[in-house]
Amino acid sequence: MKIHNIKFLDYDGKLIKEINIEDGKKIKSPKPKRYFYKFYGWRPTFSEIARKDMVYKAKYKPKMDYDNNGISDEEEFLKIVSHILNNEEFLKRKKFKHHGETSLYEHSFAVSYYAYIWAKKLHLKRKTVKNVAIAGMLHDFYYEDWTKIKDNRPFFKKHGFVHAKEAKNNSLKYFKEYMNDRILNAIERHMFPLNITPPKYKEGWLITLADKYVSMDVIKDYKILYSFFSRKHR
Ligand SMILES: [Fe+2]
Ligand SMILES: [Fe+2]
Repeated sequence: MKIHNIKFLDYDGKLIKEINIEDGKKIKSPKPKRYFYKFYGWRPTFSEIARKDMVYKAKYKPKMDYDNNGISDEEEFLKIVSHILNNEEFLKRKKFKHHGETSLYEHSFAVSYYAYIWAKKLHLKRKTVKNVAIAGMLHDFYYEDWTKIKDNRPFFKKHGFVHAKEAKNNSLKYFKEYMNDRILNAIERHMFPLNITPPKYKEGWLITLADKYVSMDVIKDYKILYSFFSRKHR
C-alpha cells in the first residue's frame, strides 16, 4: 500500500503539520492563525484525498490594509512605533495620568494610531504616514506628570500652553535619530487652536485632529463628565 507525505507550512515556511497517510484516505487540514491576518486557504489548492506527496502553504489576507500592499496596517504601525513604546523613558508615561482613567501612554498610543490610520485612508506618502505615527506617539511627551504638579504658573505658562514645546524638546533628547522638521512641527503645533500658530504640514493637522478626537472620549463617559462637573461646582 502506498503512503503519501503531506506537509502544511505557515506563511513563513514553519511546519504546521505533517502527516503520512495511505493512498486514497481523507486528509484533515489544519486551520492556522496569524495575528492581524485572516487565513483563506492553501497554495496549491487543497485536495482532501491523498493521491501523492504534497506541500501546502497557508495563504493570508491582512484584516486591515488601506493601502493594499498586502501587509497588515496594524502590523506596520507596531513596527514603526515599537522602539518608542518599549523605550524606558516613554514607558514611564504609563504612570502619568491623562484624562480620567487613561494613562498618557495609552492616550499617545490612541492619537498615534488614529492619525496613522487616517493617513493610510487618505493614501498619503509612506514617509508621511510614518511621520504621523511617530509624531502622534510623541505629541505629549512632556517632562512630568502635570496632574501631580501644583501649577502656580502664570496663565500663559500653564500646561496647556507649554507642554507641546516640552514634548518637542524631550523628543529631540530621547529620539533624535527619528526626528525631522515635519515631525517636530507636528509635535510643537498640536495644541492649535489653543496655541494660535497652526501646524505647517499635513502630519501636524492629522495629529491635532486625532488628539481632539481621542479626547472626546472623555465626553462620552458621563461619569468623568459628572465628576468634572461636581468638582467645578463645589
Ligand atoms: Fe497635548
Ligand atoms: Fe494629547
